[in-house]
This record gives sequence, C-alpha cells and structure tokens, in this order.
Amino acid sequence: MRAPLRLLVLVSGAGSLLQALIDAEAAGSLAAQVVAVGADREGTTGLERASAAGVPTFVEPVSAHADRATWDRALADRVGEHAPDLVITAGFMKILGPRLLGRWTVLNTHPALLPSFPGAHGVRDALAYGVRVTGSTAHLVDAGVDTGPIIEQRVVAIADDDTEATLHERIKAVEREMLVDVVTAMATGGWQVEGRRVRVGGAVG
Ligand code: GRF
Repeated sequence: MRAPLRLLVLVSGAGSLLQALIDAEAAGSLAAQVVAVGADREGTTGLERASAAGVPTFVEPVSAHADRATWDRALADRVGEHAPDLVITAGFMKILGPRLLGRWTVLNTHPALLPSFPGAHGVRDALAYGVRVTGSTAHLVDAGVDTGPIIEQRVVAIADDDTEATLHERIKAVEREMLVDVVTAMATGGWQVEGRRVRVGGAVG
C-alpha cells in the first residue's frame, strides 16, 4: 500500500478548510496526512485547530523579515523541515514566493469561479457584479494571483437576499467538500500537469 500523501497546510484565519482535512483524515477517508500547519500570523483559530488535533505548527510572519524574498526563503525552510508531498494554502492570505513554489506543488481553493473574480474579495466582487452563479475553484498555485491551472470547480447559486457573509458561508461549505475530494483524488491517483490542464487520478503518482 502506498504511504499517505504528506500534506503541509498554510493558514491565515479561521481554518475551517483545514478542519475539513483534519476531520477527513481522522475518519480514514483522506489517503493523506496533515503533517504540519504553518501560518503567517500568531493567534488564529486555524492554529488552534491544528494544535487541538495534535498537528505541529509554526508561524513565519512577513514582518519578521527585511523583505519578501527573505520571508519566502524562511518559509520554504520551515516547510521543508516537514518534507511534505503537497502544500495546501487554506485561506492563506499571502502571495507565495519563487523559493517555495519552485520546490513544491501548491494547491489552493478560491471562493469564486476563476478566472472570474480573482484576488482577496472574490465573494464580494461576484455579488457586486450581479452574476447569478459563483462557486469555488481548486487550482494549482503559480506566480500570479489565482492564475494557476484549474483542477476542479463547483457552482453555488446566488440568492436575491445574499450578503457577502451568507454567500461566503455557502461557498465555504462546497469548498470544504471539494478540497477533501480533490486531495483524496490526488493522494490516491496522483496528478499530471500539461500546460494549463491538470489530470488528477488514474495516473501513476
Ligand atoms: C475560503 O473561502 C478560502 O477560499 C478563502 O478564505 C476562506 C478560508 O476559510 N481564501 P477558512 O479560514 O478555512 O475558514
């Protein structure tokens, strides 16, 4: 039997996506193991969730470094200590640098149907534009902002009385399930990237 895929999860906030991974692992349905959780700030619920599950954590704030390049190298060193097979940004609100991206495949989920509404306000921007459907996108991270190759997308309908908060909550419910499904598929079937196309599962990983 193949060893479980080693996941390192980066968080900045509430960490409900992280919790979904931890819960799926505990239920034995993930085929992967969260080996460590990193954050760019202290005192977040995401870090508390990791500690409660007995997962090692570390914090590497940008402000502790002279510039982004030094932070990128420090973060990559911290990540490397845990020898992950896959890095996941789960509500991680910093743009990753070349050192980290050059060493690991990084999976992100974004709360909109990319390439529409990239950036930090994907939910708010979709609502303001007036689209009737939005959703969540699982994609690999490249040097741009939410521009990497797309793995999967799930749709959420927008209701007339939605606020940013109600819509984001419904998107996050879909996003948590999608993240667990995508990680499970990557862990069991491997993945291949050809240009902008990603094939998950069925491959010899
Ligand atoms: C998710 O919607 C993610 O896509 C966005 O921030 C949210 C993170 O939620 N970038 P949580 O911190 O995992 O609860």
